[in-house]
Amino acid sequence: MRKTGTTITRRGFGAILAAGLMATSLAACGNSDTGSEAGDSKGDGQIVLGFSQVGAESGWRTANTNSIKESAEKAGIKLQFDDAQQKQENQIKAIRNFIQQKVDVIAFSPVVESGWDTVLKEAKDAKIPVILTDRAVDSADKSLYKTFIGSDFVKEGRLAGEWLVEQKKAATGPVNIVELQGTTGSAPANDRKKGFAEAIAANPNLKVVASQSGDFTRAGGKQVMEQFLKANPKIDVLFAHNDDMGLGALEAITAAGKVPGKDITIITIDAVKDGMQALADGKFNFIAECSPLLGDQLMDLVKKVKAGEEVPARVETQETTFTQEQAKAALPTRKY
Ligand code: AHR
Repeated sequence: MRKTGTTITRRGFGAILAAGLMATSLAACGNSDTGSEAGDSKGDGQIVLGFSQVGAESGWRTANTNSIKESAEKAGIKLQFDDAQQKQENQIKAIRNFIQQKVDVIAFSPVVESGWDTVLKEAKDAKIPVILTDRAVDSADKSLYKTFIGSDFVKEGRLAGEWLVEQKKAATGPVNIVELQGTTGSAPANDRKKGFAEAIAANPNLKVVASQSGDFTRAGGKQVMEQFLKANPKIDVLFAHNDDMGLGALEAITAAGKVPGKDITIITIDAVKDGMQALADGKFNFIAECSPLLGDQLMDLVKKVKAGEEVPARVETQETTFTQEQAKAALPTRKY
């Protein structure tokens, strides 16, 4: 636990200035929802949260965006939402706009891990607390943000690898694995790769023969899997860093005349409904869960940092794993 310490003054803000800023500055970024005004311009005491989202690259991301919007409304927090369309420069612009608007708290899900120190320092100098959601940054100065809320991505990769080690323990020859990585430089891509590699090191028969980014999208997963299939005559396992890339890869595998889930064992991460359906249908073999439902916990943290209360340095989401049978049982009540 560490003290957040910051005294946050009430930031009354002229409606005309706010409207002008929003019209010019938010237009320069990705897609922004400007349904509420910046700062506490109405003087109604509501907290204003500026949130910069990665984009809309996956089913997970859509569920995460919905969770944040719904939870903000429920918590009575005014949300300034910006979609960075998977571009770091858009996120930096959005954060600068939030600083200009004097929002009470900034939260963002960093598209990549590196390159945030300057803008985070600007937020700190403006005395606006920052919360990292979903993805971490690699800043050495931990005082640049108040807390992180999200998953243990290394653990997710490790759980995927451990399941595979168990499945292939009787293998006497090489087991060829192809890996569809998430967005290059992102925390989930770096960490899932690491956790998986550490786990499969337990069996020298398990070898990653190709590993490339599919950018967490279905289209990327399909395209890269097509290349993998052309270049590698024997693929035994696909490890995709998210469901969407795995779903895209299914199309490539089927088009190549192979049976997904049988000829090629498929392991993914997320457990969104479409992924769970593929698992229940026998097309995927195993999923490590990554929950996008961060909204309620994020809003609690927003209120606490705004009030200058102590918050934990890291808040981790509770997650599980699914086999095909477990997916069949879980699907009817799956929330995302
Ligand atoms: O950062 C979380 C990851 O981002 C999810 O696993 C993936 O689906 C999303 O795009």
